[in-house]
Amino acid sequence: MSQATPHPRVALVTGGIGGLGTEICRQLAQAGRRVIALDLASREDRVATFKDDIAGFDGAIAFEPADVSDFDGCQQLVARLEQQHGSVDILVNAAGITRDASLRKMTQQQWQELMRVNLDGVFNMCRHVVEGMTVRGFGRIVNISSVNGQTGQFGQTNYSAAKAGVHGFSMALARETARKGVTVNTVSPGYCDTPMVAAVPDEIRAQIIAGIPVGRLGSPADIARAVAFLAADDAGYLTGVNLPVNGGYFMSF
Ligand code: CAA
Repeated sequence: MSQATPHPRVALVTGGIGGLGTEICRQLAQAGRRVIALDLASREDRVATFKDDIAGFDGAIAFEPADVSDFDGCQQLVARLEQQHGSVDILVNAAGITRDASLRKMTQQQWQELMRVNLDGVFNMCRHVVEGMTVRGFGRIVNISSVNGQTGQFGQTNYSAAKAGVHGFSMALARETARKGVTVNTVSPGYCDTPMVAAVPDEIRAQIIAGIPVGRLGSPADIARAVAFLAADDAGYLTGVNLPVNGGYFMSF
């Protein structure tokens, strides 16, 4: 007797066309997920490049314009996608920005813009997917933090605070959803080969790379590998975890 093909899991990736997000989308699609990349539509060149990049995936990856800092917009989007696809099973919060400045120079705008994307964005998306996941009894949430949330970084009081906050959020939500088949974990990348890190002044970046035991920047694929691992169906006993992927740059027990 033939078995019905199981419905592929639906994965939303915020920051889906960004430095890490594109590769996360690719690896989730390679793992058989139906992937929706959420990102700002404001930069048309970026969207066009992404569409070229994913052309080989035969429709397994789609782009949806979204601003994670817009609470109501996130609600409408999740409701529409749940209706369209039947469920949202995996959420990866990879949308993130930097607004680097030492605190004595940091403006309130730099603080607020960063918090709205890097921390409010995680709340806005999780708040709207969590109900459906718990009702259906399955969900995988992976929040992207940073080594700089673990250690602090000169010029990043805003970013380090938000990224440390992301893991606090993950641990609290993991407790709330653990009995409902929903896991919530954090991946903390180190310095990776992305436009965000390319924007760090050359001299500072060189010093940072010299301090990475593996001897190189991380690749987006290194991070996506960890995300796909935590998002797997059989990763149900891993929850509230922070998984650092930093080439040994920060080792802790
Ligand atoms: N540690 C100690 N002192 C430092 C320092 C550091 N890392 N960086 C600068 N300083 C010192 C300078 O030598 C200078 O000292 P003097 O006043 O004695 O001359 C002083 O601090 C300069 O302070 P300013 O406030 O004037 O700093 P600035 O405006 O020149 O630059 C900055 C500050 C923009 C934050 C710059 O240091 C910078 O870009 N740093 C890199 C920050 C960084 O690593 N960001 C990561 C982005 S990638 C990312 O975030 C991805 C991820 O998750 C890993």
